Amino acid sequence: METFIECIDLKKRFGKKEVLRGIDLKVIKNETLVILGGSGSGKSVLLKTIIGLIPLDSGRIVIDDEDVTDFEESQWQEVRTKISYVFQWGALFDSMNVFDNLAFPLREKKMDEKEIEGKVKNTLSILGLEGTDFMYPSDLSGGMKKRVALARSIISEPKCILYDEPTSGLDPITANQINRLIKQMQEMLNVTSVVVTHDINSTFYVADRIALLYEGKINFYGSIEETKKSNNQILQDFISGRVPDEKWQ
Ligand SMILES: Nc1ncnc2c1ncn2[C@@H]1O[C@H](COP(=O)(O)OP(=O)(O)OP(=O)(O)O)[C@@H](O)[C@H]1O
Ligand SMILES: [Mg+2]
Repeated sequence: METFIECIDLKKRFGKKEVLRGIDLKVIKNETLVILGGSGSGKSVLLKTIIGLIPLDSGRIVIDDEDVTDFEESQWQEVRTKISYVFQWGALFDSMNVFDNLAFPLREKKMDEKEIEGKVKNTLSILGLEGTDFMYPSDLSGGMKKRVALARSIISEPKCILYDEPTSGLDPITANQINRLIKQMQEMLNVTSVVVTHDINSTFYVADRIALLYEGKINFYGSIEETKKSNNQILQDFISGRVPDEKWQ
């Protein structure tokens, strides 16, 4: 099994708050890793450090066999063409319609407009968003916004997608659609995925492997089978929802 992302002893604090206290984690190529953890446990911070949006205090990150830890901003931009990040809150450009939102990463790459048009139409249809080309983000429902954000992150055919809470705030039907899409991305495009969530149903549907972030460290890491069989009490409490959220921060 080849590793696509390796995190080695990552540490990050904000003032007195130590959010990451030595994260060791591997993301295997072509697999989906789900990172579980309570609200405020540092899941979003971890994803943002992996793509260089938040600088680390210490530790190393290796992506696709390249040590990216000390990269300059221009080199990070290169990394972000391989790894796409779907923000927790969508982060579409509100002043652009759906078509232009999706075309944006392709125009950055100087692709020609005809080719862009074909790709945008195709991606919209994969995500069941036909006919939304000229709508603005403010006219879309929560579920549609998430799908447009997803469309924008897959359109440039990344090797890896990081999803931050892709199903939070969605009704169960839309959440299931998103889960199916995450699986399709892996199966159709062979992408490596990291999904951050506290949705246990989604976890067991999309994951090949599960990691639990707790008190700034990876408290558990294993396959679905290993997760189900594990006697790790913290993991089992989390999965069954037995622990109040405060304990997780
Ligand atoms: N830029 C920042 N400056 C200061 N503190 C921050 C910053 N970003 C995150 N934090 C703090 O780091 C901790 C972890 O935040 P993070 O957003 O990673 O949590 P999370 O696990 O993603 O939570 P949620 O499930 O609610 O999204 C929180 O206490 C948060 O307040
Ligand atoms: Mg978060």
